[in-house]
Amino acid sequence: MKRQPRSNPRSHKKLRTVSIIGTGSYVPEKVLTNEDLSRMVDTSDEWITTRTGIKERRVAAKDEYTSDMAVKAALNAIEQAKISPKEIDLILLATATPDMLFPATACFVQKKIGATNAACLDISAACAGFIFGLEIAQQFITSHTYDTVLVIGADKLTSITNWTDRNTCVLFGDGAGAAILRHRGSPHGIITTHIGSDGQYTNILFMPGGGSRCPITRENADMNLTTIHMTGKEVYKQAVIAMLNAAKKALEQAGLSVEDIACVIPHQANLRIMEAIADRLGISRDKMFVNLDRYGNTSAAAVAIALDEANRSGRIKPGDYILMVVFGGGLTWASTVIEW
Ligand code: UT7
Repeated sequence: MKRQPRSNPRSHKKLRTVSIIGTGSYVPEKVLTNEDLSRMVDTSDEWITTRTGIKERRVAAKDEYTSDMAVKAALNAIEQAKISPKEIDLILLATATPDMLFPATACFVQKKIGATNAACLDISAACAGFIFGLEIAQQFITSHTYDTVLVIGADKLTSITNWTDRNTCVLFGDGAGAAILRHRGSPHGIITTHIGSDGQYTNILFMPGGGSRCPITRENADMNLTTIHMTGKEVYKQAVIAMLNAAKKALEQAGLSVEDIACVIPHQANLRIMEAIADRLGISRDKMFVNLDRYGNTSAAAVAIALDEANRSGRIKPGDYILMVVFGGGLTWASTVIEW
């Protein structure tokens, strides 16, 4: 079908097309299986598989930080994009588990990859952060402020996991994904992006400790306040609503229908959430890209890793329309349609 942009607020403006010219990803070596977890808490492979779709996840080494994983993903993306790190104008790193509260983890990445000409900042939008990053990058590139932007989603959620809480510890894993964005002068690229938030729900997915409200003390750590707190059922419900609405919004802004989409890359949190979205959107389940079974929920890294795997495996091909849609604590949600 020929694309007919409908309500895209940008479509009437003469803006530069922003393309993803390279992707990369990295997951740590250590595998933690459902069987392993069933020896740590009262759970089973059967429960985890049927309720979530997760079979195993990766766990970073004690001395392997979010920035280390981000660097490996970034270098893969840089290599594929065939650019020098010195050409990068801006590094945006989405994470909920920065190396330190400050300076920004993006600054550690800058040093490690030698991107000496880049401005660096972290994005705090939980699992939705990578697409928030794509949107921010796109704004800077279309406005001619910057030419080349490195966007990274990286998280070490196992560093804030309560390993005695079976409601959460079975869900998460570590990893990083990255993309290089640039104006390439070709019509292929990001067609539209939509981001949104709802601060009403800050209390259903959060880490209470570690910030100014509840600083890290022995007492707070002993009460598990520096770990993830989640009301799973409510998050599930809100995730389906938010991702469905975000997906519809991006399709509408792009002037495309579900039939035009070759591949959907959704946030990798729960297979049942992905299937609910596919069914309600009316898109076949086999168009959903799934790697959750191997990595669990890697937060901001999840769709970035999935995008890289879809790209490198040939699951997405030049000219394909792809839809990415994510959801996270905040609440935050985001979606984008890209002509690959
Ligand atoms: O990145 C975004 C963040 N997160 C999400 O998107 C997660 C969204 N939520 C979910 O994916 C699901 O709500 C969960 C997978 C977290 C939980 O699945 P559920 O079907 O909503 O289960 P539930 O929380 O209602 O728990 C059902 C039962 C409970 O037992 P009782 O009270 O019925 O006896 C839980 O205690 O399952 C129990 N349970 C477990 N049993 C074995 C909870 N966790 C486990 C476990 N193993 N790991």
